[in-house]
Amino acid sequence: MHVVITGGAGFLGQKLARKLLLGAKLTGPDGQKHEVTKLTLFDVAAPAADIAQDKRVKVVTGDIGDKATVDGVVTDAAASVFHLAAVVSAGAEADFDLGMRVNLDGTRHVLEACRRLPAPPHVVFTSSVAVYGGDMPAVIKDDTPMTPQTSYGAQKAMGEFMVNDMSRKGFIDGRALRLPTIVVRPGKPNKAASTWASSIIREPLQGDSVECPVEPTTEMYVLSPRRMVESFLHAHELPAASLGFNRAMFLPGITVPVSAMLESLKKAGGQAAVDKVKFVPDANIRRIVAGWPMRFDPARAKSLGFKADDNFDQIVQGFVEDDLRRNVA
Ligand SMILES: NC(=O)c1ccc[n+]([C@@H]2O[C@H](COP(=O)([O-])OP(=O)(O)OC[C@H]3O[C@@H](n4cnc5c(N)ncnc54)[C@H](O)[C@@H]3O)[C@@H](O)[C@H]2O)c1
Repeated sequence: MHVVITGGAGFLGQKLARKLLLGAKLTGPDGQKHEVTKLTLFDVAAPAADIAQDKRVKVVTGDIGDKATVDGVVTDAAASVFHLAAVVSAGAEADFDLGMRVNLDGTRHVLEACRRLPAPPHVVFTSSVAVYGGDMPAVIKDDTPMTPQTSYGAQKAMGEFMVNDMSRKGFIDGRALRLPTIVVRPGKPNKAASTWASSIIREPLQGDSVECPVEPTTEMYVLSPRRMVESFLHAHELPAASLGFNRAMFLPGITVPVSAMLESLKKAGGQAAVDKVKFVPDANIRRIVAGWPMRFDPARAKSLGFKADDNFDQIVQGFVEDDLRRNVA
């Protein structure tokens, strides 16, 4: 079975690629479960060498904003598409035209290419809880309207509408997931305004100092990369009939204050790790984070079988096992 991951060189794209290459099975257009025999990773960047060297992997480097390029990636042989490529929150806010080109035009190019395939492919689209904003209820529920207050959130909401409409038309079999903040992200900080939530765990566990721009009481709605990859596969496998007329939903996560994150850091790295975290206020980050929803009631996603992590200790442990020890090995 041939699977395409856009954004296949990114944080979650590579995690998903590794899982698929380990033999995870997906349901193909024939309704049967198949191993992935060919995996196309499409991105402006290149994936890690060990992924690229796998014989089943085809790396395509290009711009999703270019329709002809995308048409050459999502070809007749593609059975399923995970659409992850995006300019993330602060990046899309800083450059409106880039965000529209990648997040909106790019999504349309992917969906239009899927539309031409012989059978409607399963398409898993990564939206975000950034579709909520402004004057929100204390707890976000499944029927809370999308009121994005960033260009990124608006572009994700527009992507969801396209996924829903093209699914309704029978062009694709789409599923749109609104992701919580995924922590702990390995590597370097990125342009997301939430990047500190990973940095305050990742850097101290590697012996580095880090600045935390928000207060200890600040909460985040988070999910681990392990659970996220499981959620991608679960979303892909859900019967279309279970989704009804709305293909989009927010995923279960856990709401964790910074102080509790640091407790988990202490368990993994001792007081020495916690001492590496210095609170240095950043008014801009605090303003952005204060506008984010932090409390959710993900009733629909839970009823469909999606799961959050049990606690933040488990999230930190997963990072140590999957990323820190892997790098050492
Ligand atoms: N990680 C999170 O906390 C989080 C939260 C909510 C939503 N999401 C969404 O999940 C998806 C994956 O997130 P991630 O954390 O892996 O992000 P990431 O930035 O690590 O990966 C996105 C990838 O898209 C690629 N890309 C950017 N512009 C491109 C272009 N013009 N053409 C082709 N590829 C391009 C980037 O090179 C990058 O590798 C994104 O759509 C993101 O918006 C992530």
